[in-house]
Amino acid sequence: MPEPRPLGAIVLAAGLGTRMRSAEAKVLHRLGGRPLIAWPLAALRELGVARTVVVVGHQAEAVRAAAAAALAGVETVHQAEQRGTGDAVRCAAGAFAGFDGDVLVLYGDVPLVRAATLRALVDAHRAAGATLSLLTADFEDPSGYGRIVRDAAGRVTGIVEERDASPEERRITEINPGFYCVAAAELASLLSGLRSENAQGEYYLTDLVALAARAGRRIVTVPVEQPWEVAGINTRTELARMEALVKSQQVARWLEAGVTFEDPATAYVGPDVTIGPDTVIGPNVILRGRTRVGAGCRLDGSAYLVDATLGDRVHLRFACVLEGAEVGDDAIVGPFARLRPGTRLGPRVHIGNFVETKNAVLGAGTKANHLAYLGDCEVGPDTNVGAGTITCNYDGFAKHRTTIGARVQIGSDTQLVAPVAVADDAYIGAGTTVTRDVPAGALALSRVPLRIVPGWTARRRARAAGTTPQEKPPARKRRAAGEPARKRAARRRR
Ligand code: UD1
Ligand code: CA
Repeated sequence: MPEPRPLGAIVLAAGLGTRMRSAEAKVLHRLGGRPLIAWPLAALRELGVARTVVVVGHQAEAVRAAAAAALAGVETVHQAEQRGTGDAVRCAAGAFAGFDGDVLVLYGDVPLVRAATLRALVDAHRAAGATLSLLTADFEDPSGYGRIVRDAAGRVTGIVEERDASPEERRITEINPGFYCVAAAELASLLSGLRSENAQGEYYLTDLVALAARAGRRIVTVPVEQPWEVAGINTRTELARMEALVKSQQVARWLEAGVTFEDPATAYVGPDVTIGPDTVIGPNVILRGRTRVGAGCRLDGSAYLVDATLGDRVHLRFACVLEGAEVGDDAIVGPFARLRPGTRLGPRVHIGNFVETKNAVLGAGTKANHLAYLGDCEVGPDTNVGAGTITCNYDGFAKHRTTIGARVQIGSDTQLVAPVAVADDAYIGAGTTVTRDVPAGALALSRVPLRIVPGWTARRRARAAGTTPQEKPPARKRRAAGEPARKRAARRRR
């Protein structure tokens, strides 16, 4: 639906967040794997706001980058000195001069607000033709929040910050969650009335409410039903509590959608993850980033997936790490496999224990079941990669590619020294070091000749014990055992 009037937004994110006791700006701390600043921006994106201006200050560059990653086209303004939330909005107000619409103002440290709640605020504001509208919430424990002050008739007269509040005012449980909607045309004039005579010597944005009330402007309040939605983050304790909430909300969301969690308490599912129905998730599974899990998958337990994609009916056995890897339908991976970025497994691929892949594309039905390193390689379908196979992709200067065809048998303990290619239906004998391309259907085999020295152990032990060494076997026997002629000649000379 097109907006009847344009809608803009200002998000405050310039503060350091002293109460976090951190060298990192508060809005860069992570909740559900996303920086805090990304959360309100995601709600604004969902709302379809025309212009969003983020006020940055502390670690401006990093905050700007995090904001840009969360919301395309986001603008930023710099607040050089953090002189309060009112001053921060003043820095951004210029961007809305001549903007014929309404501006939402919100704080970068209040992450869980839903787009629907912002929508309700904007709708109420417009329906009433208000100058200033704000959300309010009733908190059992209001400490730390600004309190909403009303007159005998119930009309809002202002907001008092906790530090400036009288003991009576502190008992008010109706709090200011920090979401405002202002007619853009009146923003500048309201801001010009702000003063910094208060406990913190700052320009409080909250004073706009008293200014508007005194000027007889129309103020609308919209109560929020679920207090968690508008809880702010000022301390690490609050962040940890909210992390637990986000985690349980995400698990609940996927339980609702048809996913089984064997141990919901130890599963971690980030907010940008998706999971198909009838997937079963075991204990200690961590799904982060943009991980996508298909339908009917089974994740046995103790898995760590970041930006990974699993097709349908994938069986991820115990203890696997997948980062930026794609796994095809019906594949079986693990236990103890590590799939690194650029891994693309076709359908029905089997990856077994202690196999590492990186930039590796494996065709349908191909198997690497034990102890292998497959890096910078492409492998065709229905190929078998034996235990201990290594693609030697790095020569100390550059990475090189290995290409392996379809239906190839790579024997155990094979090294493929890249760049090298093994064509379809080739057979590589166990223990081979492949240094040249192998043509289709050929056998490639490189072996060090085997030597067998009969009775060697007994003689070695006797020598160590200082007892009489047993007689050496006759030359004929040594020859038969494969002792090289060079060595036999040397012995004869002695
Ligand atoms: C603020 C409100 C309080 C409300 C609470 C809700 C004011 C004066 N108080 O208090 O009524 O109940 O939020 O969570 O607004 N910021 C800047 N520049 C500055 C100062 C702050 O950009 O100069 C940013 C911060 O980075 C932060 C946000 O504004 O993201 C809020 O600042 P904070 O100091 O956390 O305000 P609160 O004390 O929580
Ligand atoms: Ca805050």
